Amino acid sequence: MIQIVEPAKKLAGNLQVPPDKSVSHRSALFAAIASGKSTIRNYSSAADPQSTLDCLAGLGVKIKKNGSTVEIEGVGRDGLSPPAAPLDCGNSGTTMRLLAGIVAGAGVDCEMIGDESLSSRTMKRIIDPLRQMGCRIDATRGEYAPLKVGTHQGIRAMRYPLPIASAQLKSCVLLAGLFGSEPTEVIEQKFSRDHTERLLGLKSEPYSTGKIIRSSRSDEIPVQNYAVPGDFSAAAFWLVASAISDDASIELNNTGMNPSRIAALTVLDEMGAGIVRDNVRNEGKEPVADLTARSAELKSIDLDPILVPNCIDELPILMVAMCFADGQSVISGAEELRHKETDRLSAMAEILTLAGADVTLKPDGIMINGRRDFVPEPAAYPTWHDHRMAMAAAILATRSSGVSKIKDAECTAISYPEFWQHLQSLYQ
Ligand code: S3P
Repeated sequence: MIQIVEPAKKLAGNLQVPPDKSVSHRSALFAAIASGKSTIRNYSSAADPQSTLDCLAGLGVKIKKNGSTVEIEGVGRDGLSPPAAPLDCGNSGTTMRLLAGIVAGAGVDCEMIGDESLSSRTMKRIIDPLRQMGCRIDATRGEYAPLKVGTHQGIRAMRYPLPIASAQLKSCVLLAGLFGSEPTEVIEQKFSRDHTERLLGLKSEPYSTGKIIRSSRSDEIPVQNYAVPGDFSAAAFWLVASAISDDASIELNNTGMNPSRIAALTVLDEMGAGIVRDNVRNEGKEPVADLTARSAELKSIDLDPILVPNCIDELPILMVAMCFADGQSVISGAEELRHKETDRLSAMAEILTLAGADVTLKPDGIMINGRRDFVPEPAAYPTWHDHRMAMAAAILATRSSGVSKIKDAECTAISYPEFWQHLQSLYQ
C-alpha cells in the first residue's frame, strides 16, 4: 500500500499511544512459563506481539484474548510441549531471540522460522552463549533462521559478559538461565532496556562499572497481573513531529517512562524540545507519564554514545529532528542500527538524502547538517518493509512543501497498527 502524506500546517490532539511492544512480548512469555493464570491488560494488537502469542499457542499454552486483555494459563517451566509445526516468529526479532532462550533452556524440540527480514538477521549472538550453557541449537549457515532447538543434558552455570548492549541477547541468556540449577550470571557494562529483570524480579547488583544479573531454577516465575504501558518508542514519533512543526501541541497519555527506554527525551531536551511530563506514576512494574510536546526551535547535538542503547529504536526519528536543528548533529556508536529489521543507518541516510537533507553516513552513525528552515522535498519514500522507516519518513513528510508517498506503508502494523489514523487525526 502507498500512503499519501500531505504537508501539515498545524498538528494538534491527544493520543493514546499503542501498548509497549517489549513489555507485551515479555508479559506473555513469562506468563506462559509461570504456573497458573496470569492476566495482561492493554496487550499490544501489533503484529510482532501477536507472533509471540501464536508461538506460545504452538507450544501448547492456552491463551484467551478479549479485546486488549489477554489471559494466559501458564504451563510452568517444564510444561511446554514440542510444537507440531515450526514456530513462526514473523518479523519479530524479540520473539525469536527471547523465545529461543526459553525453548533452548527448557530443551523443547522445535524449529523456529521467520519472514525474509528476520531470516536475514544474525542469530549468532544468541547461539554462541546458548551453546556455551549446554543448549542444543542449530542455525542455517551457522547463524540464520530457521533455527532448530533440541533436548539437552542440563544447563551449565555460566558467567557471561555481554559483548553487545542488547536487551534481546541479555534476556535470551537470562531466560535460558531460569532452567539451570546453578545461576547464570550476565554482566552488563552498557545498560540496555531492563524490562526482563524488572518484570521477573531477577536479582542484580553493581559490578565494576556495570551490573551483574543472575537467573536460575530457584527464581520463582511469578503468576501476575500485568499492565502494559504506552510505548515510548511510538510516542517518540509524535514528540519529534511536534518539535519540527510550526504550530503543534500533542498530548500523549500513559506513555512508558522506563529510564532504560527514554534517552530520546534526554536528547530532545538537550536539543531544546521542552517536552512536558505530567502525572508521573506507576503502571504495574513500569513508570508512565502524560507527555505534552509542542513546536520548538531545535539546536544541533553531538549525541553521547552512552545513550545509544537507551534510544536505539528512536534514533531514526531523532535523525529527522536533527535535520531541523541548526548546525551539525552527530550520532556515533550506533553500529547496531545496521542489524535491525533493515540496515537502519543506510536506510535513513537514503530517506533523508531523498528529502534533500545534508547527511554523511559513517560506519557507526551519521552526521547531519540541519537548518531550522529545512523544507523536505516531496518524495516517494522507500521503507524496506521496516515499520520505523515508514513512520520516520511520514513525520519528515509532514514538513514537506508538497505531497509525499510512503511505500509499503502497511508495515507500520508491526508495532503501530493505528499509526496512519493517528497521524490523520492530528491534522487541523
Ligand atoms: C528489544 C530490544 C532492542 C530493540 C527491539 C526490542 C527488546 O533490540 O531494538 O526493538 O524488546 O528487547 P536489541 O536488544 O537487540 O538492541
